[in-house]
Amino acid sequence: MYGLVNEAIRGMVLASFDEQTWVAIAEEAGVDDEFISMHSYDDADTYALVSVASEKLGVPADEILEGFGKHWIQFTAEEGYGSLVEMMGDSLEVFLRRLGDDMHARVVAAMPALQPPEFFVEERSATEFIIRYRSHRQGLSSMVKGLLEGLAEKYQRQAAVTMLSTEHTDDKAQATFLVEILDRH
Ligand code: HEM
Repeated sequence: MYGLVNEAIRGMVLASFDEQTWVAIAEEAGVDDEFISMHSYDDADTYALVSVASEKLGVPADEILEGFGKHWIQFTAEEGYGSLVEMMGDSLEVFLRRLGDDMHARVVAAMPALQPPEFFVEERSATEFIIRYRSHRQGLSSMVKGLLEGLAEKYQRQAAVTMLSTEHTDDKAQATFLVEILDRH
């Protein structure tokens, strides 16, 4: 994955812990402690960081991934991708509808080696969205939960995100989420 992802993990660790903790995590994971955002690194580096952080901080990997998803929305805004998210809509509902229209396609222009996941969106009612996620990567469903929660937070909305199912095969992972909007306005 692009270094931007590993940089976001670094930022998240630094926000709650200190430089020493981060350097120890990176060292044990066998990766650099700084990354070039626009360079594409081996996915194994990212997985190693999550797994060592989970071990060292005593936090389950799924919790780390969920926190990471939330952090990502804020992080990409700060790293200059905010306008991309803005272009996706001025409300949570509009953004969720467009998530299925290949939102990462706009990112590919800047990051040609991107291997983004796919989203399929079904609007069940004015307050209920079903979001289906599919990726060739394993084990990142909790990150999607955090991302959807982070989006609600970004639009200052109350929403409950539930993972309805998750399924892994050798070469792909799928998960289905229910997003219930609790404060329709
Ligand atoms: C401007 C905002 C965004 C940027 C710049 C961005 C960029 C990226 C990048 C660089 C990766 C790593 C993949 C690779 O390097 O091949 C990634 C992965 C991912 N992105 Fe985004 N993204 C953005 C917003 C979102 C949003 C809003 C969602 C979902 C609600 C999302 C869902 C994911 C997921 C789940 C992955 C993990 C990879 C996988 O599942 O295979 N992203 N994105």
